[in-house]
Amino acid sequence: MPLHSPCITTVKPLLRALQGETVIPPPLWLMRQAGRYLPEYRHVRASVHSFLELCYSPELAAEVALQPIRRYGFDAAILFSDILVVPDALGQPLVFHEGKGPTLERLECKADVTRLSLDQLTNHLTPVYKTVQCLASTIAPTVALLGFAGAPWTVAAYMIEGGGSKDFSQAKLWALGKGPLEQLMELLTEATTQHLLAQIAAGAEAVQVFDTWAGVLPESEFSRLIIKPTENVVRSVHRVYPDVPIIAFPRGAGAQYEAFVTETGVQAVSIDSSVPLMWAASRLQPHVAIQGNLDPLALVAGGESMLQRVHRIVDILSHGPFVFNLGHGIVPETPLEHVAALVEYVRICGQSEREVANRQNTAFCFSDP
Ligand code: CP3
Repeated sequence: MPLHSPCITTVKPLLRALQGETVIPPPLWLMRQAGRYLPEYRHVRASVHSFLELCYSPELAAEVALQPIRRYGFDAAILFSDILVVPDALGQPLVFHEGKGPTLERLECKADVTRLSLDQLTNHLTPVYKTVQCLASTIAPTVALLGFAGAPWTVAAYMIEGGGSKDFSQAKLWALGKGPLEQLMELLTEATTQHLLAQIAAGAEAVQVFDTWAGVLPESEFSRLIIKPTENVVRSVHRVYPDVPIIAFPRGAGAQYEAFVTETGVQAVSIDSSVPLMWAASRLQPHVAIQGNLDPLALVAGGESMLQRVHRIVDILSHGPFVFNLGHGIVPETPLEHVAALVEYVRICGQSEREVANRQNTAFCFSDP
């Protein structure tokens, strides 16, 4: 019997927004909210040999996932793990070198893809599901628990490049027919589905699918490599858990965000900082909840300039289902006090929005066009 049971009403503001409600003040969490900008994270990180060891140690991973909730009172805790544990579990070993990011032995040919296997996936990732269980049993009643996975294209891109890359040119060549991408995408679509299902079974209440490198593809490949695989993952997850909201983050999708939200079946879309807010409010928000989109560097800059940008985001997007977040992950050099100021301001912004709403006696609700 899965832990998750569909709920019509919930006290968790983030889940209400993902279900299509306009929630004021807007729920708030930050991508990569657990990480190196926090001294308490650096402390735990120093106690283990590697980042991957931290990902595979359920008690420590749960502890670092809870740290930003304790410090800032965010509305969601996100599982502490990494999108690249999936290739690790498929048989392409992953190493994180200090200060260098992830390294995998790059895939070069069909035989390299054929060698990968789903057989040990959930077994290998048992510690990750234990982390979710640990979090589910300790989290406060108003805080939502998010699971996540990388989208097939983004994970494939790292697997083909053997790590990060400035332009993902090898992966793009595979996308243009110079490698067995279809076979790899099929495997990753299944792996992503299984990984998300196992997290939900362990207690995740919503999941986010990160397609960080969606924006490097030409338009002609966007539907085949971004929309379709996401749609397949969404359909398979919803076949088992129809009520679990799915947030997707096709970073850099530009005008194609619109086709993405109408065709994939996701409940929410995370927008990067380049997406025009008025456009997002009129073209995306009628279909899905919006999450985003403060530039992570605006959070580093802080002060009045940050608050003005936060105000504009809340002002434009909080008339429909909306979750405040960054346009990409928080960066390690972010000052702690800027995050505190951001959280305080979003809560206050929300209050003034609520007063306006009350004065106008407006009924806020999410309507499908
Ligand atoms: O959001 C959270 O707090 C949950 C944890 C989380 C991590 N990675 C922890 C992490 C999540 C959701 C991710 C997702 C992830 N990982 C993505 C998609 C989102 C994005 O940022 O684009 C990607 C592309 C990765 C792959 C990855 N992991 C890279 C390229 C790197 C190196 C760059 C860097 O920031 O160091 C990582 C390492 C990583 N993942 C760290 C953390 C906290 C830093 C490692 C450390 O602490 O030593």
